[in-house]
Amino acid sequence: MTWDRKITIKTERELQIMRIAGRINAEALAAAYAIIRPGITTADLNAAAEEVQRKYGVYSPFKNYPGPYPYPASTCISVNDELVHGIPDGRKLKEGDIVSMDCGTVYEGFIGDSAFTAQVGEASPQAKKLLEVTEQALYIGISMCKPGNRVGDISAAIQKYVEGNGFEVVREYTGHGVGRDMHEGPQVPNYGTPGTGMLLRPGMVIALEPMVLIGSPATKVLANQWTVASKNGKLTAHFEHTVAITENGPVILSLLEDGSSPAQIAGRLVK
Ligand code: MF3
Ligand code: CO
Repeated sequence: MTWDRKITIKTERELQIMRIAGRINAEALAAAYAIIRPGITTADLNAAAEEVQRKYGVYSPFKNYPGPYPYPASTCISVNDELVHGIPDGRKLKEGDIVSMDCGTVYEGFIGDSAFTAQVGEASPQAKKLLEVTEQALYIGISMCKPGNRVGDISAAIQKYVEGNGFEVVREYTGHGVGRDMHEGPQVPNYGTPGTGMLLRPGMVIALEPMVLIGSPATKVLANQWTVASKNGKLTAHFEHTVAITENGPVILSLLEDGSSPAQIAGRLVK
């Protein structure tokens, strides 16, 4: 899916607001992360995130987002082979599943957008490697978010790391600029060529979101018309942060107040 939307440059004040949107969003994700265990439903996780949003008087831009029909929930929760846009429901998570949760928050008109993938109990060694590689790909992409670099530098770095670890990057879905709109320009693919694409400038804010598959990058859309899954039925993973490009380099806006990520796998993760 290729599109061409407006790019907005944020002021210092707007970046402060976006940091708050991102922090509240991280709290919503962390509240859900904290209750992940076998037996819990994906609707329970959605409710945990919504409760935090209600507490702050904010809401998710996902709700009613236009698509085949208005998106029906505040979060996307995708299990195992489901890559993105899973709709929360009464399904119970099982020991060894992996679950991705994507949440957005609108605060003072600006959006924070972030996602993680977590194990339910303990997943297989291959699943763990998939999660580690996908999360690390996100941080490698973030490290490229500097003025003077181009979108293709981010894309290529993500692709190289993921493929170097034996996995595949999605082709049909991308990261994106984010601001007052959830999907602004530039589009940020998870594959590409260094030195190509749009020049990164201070004040741009982008949501980087590596989506990683095993064996083949092919995806399919399920019967509910929203959920995207791997075509081959193998596991998939997705991590996302909202990142500001500043003179001093990348600033992750979608972290908790203490600078940590909502889900830190076995404590081995960077901030
Ligand atoms: N956070 C996602 C994205 O970056 C998913 C939004 S899809 C929606 O595109 F329909 F739920 F809004
Ligand atoms: Co996004």
